[in-house]
Amino acid sequence: MCGIVGYTGNRQAYPIVIKGLKRLEYRGYDSAGVAIYDNRNIKIYKKEGKVADLEESIGTQNVQGTSCIGHTRWATHGEPSDRNAHPHLSASGKIAMIHNGIIENYAQLKRELLNKGYIFKSETDTEVLLNFIEEIKTNNNCSLEEALRIALKRVTGAYVILLIANDEPDTIIAARKGSPLVIGVGKNEHFLGSDASPMLEYTKEVVYVNDYELAIVKPDELVLKNLGNEKLTPYVQKLDMELSAIEKGGFDHFMLKEIFEQPQTIFDCMRGRLDVKAGTITMAGIQQYAEQIISANRIVIIACGTSWHAGLVAEYIIEELCRINVEVEYASEYRYRNPVINKDDIILAISQSGETADTLVAIENAKEKGAIILGVVNVVGSSIARASHAGAYTHAGPEIGVASTKAFTAQLVVLTMMALKIGYMKGTISNERYQKLLKELEVIPEKAAWIMNHTDGIKKIAEKYKQARDFLYLGRGYNFAVALEGALKLKEISYIHAEGYPAAEMKHGPIALVDENLPVTFVATKDAYHEKIVSNMQEIKARKGMVIAVITEGDDTCAELSDDIMIVPEADEIVAPMLTVIPLQLLSYYIGVAKGCDVDKPRNLAKSVTVE
Ligand code: AGP
Repeated sequence: MCGIVGYTGNRQAYPIVIKGLKRLEYRGYDSAGVAIYDNRNIKIYKKEGKVADLEESIGTQNVQGTSCIGHTRWATHGEPSDRNAHPHLSASGKIAMIHNGIIENYAQLKRELLNKGYIFKSETDTEVLLNFIEEIKTNNNCSLEEALRIALKRVTGAYVILLIANDEPDTIIAARKGSPLVIGVGKNEHFLGSDASPMLEYTKEVVYVNDYELAIVKPDELVLKNLGNEKLTPYVQKLDMELSAIEKGGFDHFMLKEIFEQPQTIFDCMRGRLDVKAGTITMAGIQQYAEQIISANRIVIIACGTSWHAGLVAEYIIEELCRINVEVEYASEYRYRNPVINKDDIILAISQSGETADTLVAIENAKEKGAIILGVVNVVGSSIARASHAGAYTHAGPEIGVASTKAFTAQLVVLTMMALKIGYMKGTISNERYQKLLKELEVIPEKAAWIMNHTDGIKKIAEKYKQARDFLYLGRGYNFAVALEGALKLKEISYIHAEGYPAAEMKHGPIALVDENLPVTFVATKDAYHEKIVSNMQEIKARKGMVIAVITEGDDTCAELSDDIMIVPEADEIVAPMLTVIPLQLLSYYIGVAKGCDVDKPRNLAKSVTVE
């Protein structure tokens, strides 16, 4: 899940591409590089590390040229290093290429080329594909575009490829399968990116490139073709996003900004959908398939990571309100498990980026078997959104911090509104309960804002426990998935080993871990499970465990049982996860910062996992 950027036009390309790479750095930061045509030759500049390290290595060199491609890497084939950094240059030195994805049959192609005497400078699959393309170009004496089309018919895997060549200086040739590619249309200039953020400050006119499409991009021309060499009409869409959305806005980190945005993003997610006065929820995408959902035997939720945790909360809510059986599946397992999928099964795919490869392929498999795919996605125009029959956007705005925060709470809002709508239409929820939950939803933004105004205590707790070696997170019912999410956030941001567990499961093993050195974080707000969770807290205290607890305002019982507390306003158990997760997001953030971790770009991670 690398970041790719390209520019061809009449401006100096280097500063535009470097700025674009910085905007995409959340996609991977193992190395960075650019290839630019300086009116004589292609020049390559690349360096292990972040984009800033690349800039430093270039220093005051005068990098000239009006067409350029750039890459920020998340290493798959070959460790992070200068030689494995992109762009790669072909054996002749006349073609440069960057790539996001994985070429699965690269070893076989490499053997063929080695037998032909090719020598490779890197360990990457990308350099293999590049030389394979050049081999075809030379042998067939054809254009680079033609050679690429022929080569791609022999390639298996996922890719976005950008190429520039000496003999076509202002032309960028691109191809896509499985990884995202957006082209920005300007006046006598074009921009290319893994998403729209590198081009947002220059144009709002974009084209989303589909799988098996090639783009031949010149300053004043954009040609789209399929692998059959047929021309396609580019579908230009207008971006509904402001530059401020992808800036830090005075916060130290995108993660903190995105945590503090939640009162607004939760409100934005309900706006135009939730009408408490009218007692209605309007979700056109869900309405379209309401009959199929209502009569469904089961709903299969497919997702990864934090989105999977949102799916787990949704399982509890949908079964409770809609009385429909729900199964929550890890996309990476589901896509290979050969699961039983019946025609008209409802598949709910949850994804912030809308580009997660495992989720995308899992839903494409299910679609082939006749299932109905509904997407809950944040990134507008993303692959999962386009692969779904219908669905709902979470409207959380761009999420730049690698650790997902505001997208999670927005996913919970969409899934809760969906369950309420279907439950009410199906008659499996009383009108009184329905109206009460609409009111509960409506006041979540102000309750989230209350938490944002009470974070000092959380900073102190983070300082106290920042040296901990391990953490345990426990919850029951709706808060079980929140405990899992809290543990994931801490792992991602602070590199502290943390596990989430159903609190009652402790007695079946994990309680053996408890001693005076283990912080145990409870999500223990007032709900149907409260008495049970109080006894679980007593079990931990009995073994000298250190108890940190997210509790409901005024809950003295849990406060007395805890060494440290994080308070949230009272809320119905069904909507409580939208609040209880916020102190856990902040705890992981403040511990990460206290430990000097790069909280926006945690090691070994990337924002959207576009390779399996
Ligand atoms: C969460 O903080 C992580 N970034 C990761 O687990 C993420 O949730 C997962 O990769 C799924 O991403 P998606 O929602 O974009 O599909």
